[in-house]
Amino acid sequence: MRLHSNPASPFGRKVMVSAHELGLAERITVDDHLLSPVEPSAAVIADNPLGKLPTLVLDNGHALYDSRVICEYLDHLAGGNRLFPQAGEARWRTLTLQALGDGMMDAALLARYETFLRPEELRWQAWVEHQKLKVQRGLDWLERNVDQLAEEPDIGSITIGCALGYLDFRFGADKWRDGRARLAAWFARFAARPSMQATTPRQM
Ligand code: BEZ
Repeated sequence: MRLHSNPASPFGRKVMVSAHELGLAERITVDDHLLSPVEPSAAVIADNPLGKLPTLVLDNGHALYDSRVICEYLDHLAGGNRLFPQAGEARWRTLTLQALGDGMMDAALLARYETFLRPEELRWQAWVEHQKLKVQRGLDWLERNVDQLAEEPDIGSITIGCALGYLDFRFGADKWRDGRARLAAWFARFAARPSMQATTPRQM
């Protein structure tokens, strides 16, 4: 399998952390692409009309996206019911945590695009603050509900872990740990996992 990604992408990291946890990482070759939301790579567009990362191309040529679909596919490939509980309260809890983590990563990426990619004269500071507030509210909710985060990885904890890792990588100056000791302690344990250590984000 081939994964179109970028070494800084938190969504790409989510896929690779899942692959490591499921014992499938060796079966995935990663093709890294430069980030340009206005000029996506032709190679990615050939596999995904949205031109978005990550996109997973299977050995039969079929492409899967987005990260939610890819991670659920990997779980299925590994026998199922590992990162995605199939039924019951655990399923809805982990899927909702995934949605929260995805939303925090989306908001952080929008803030990143606005501050680093958009020409300075076109930047809209109030909009950046609006995105950052979404992240802050997510962090506050997680601090209050940290017991919902599994110590053993599932798709919810993996997504939240990748969201926090991206905040450290791109928004370290915002100091998300301040006033959130319980969440910080959970992340210190989660970030020590070999799957997280093997996927530390980096600038391409
Ligand atoms: C980043 O540089 O922060 C980035 C690159 C690709 C995808 C997402 C984020």
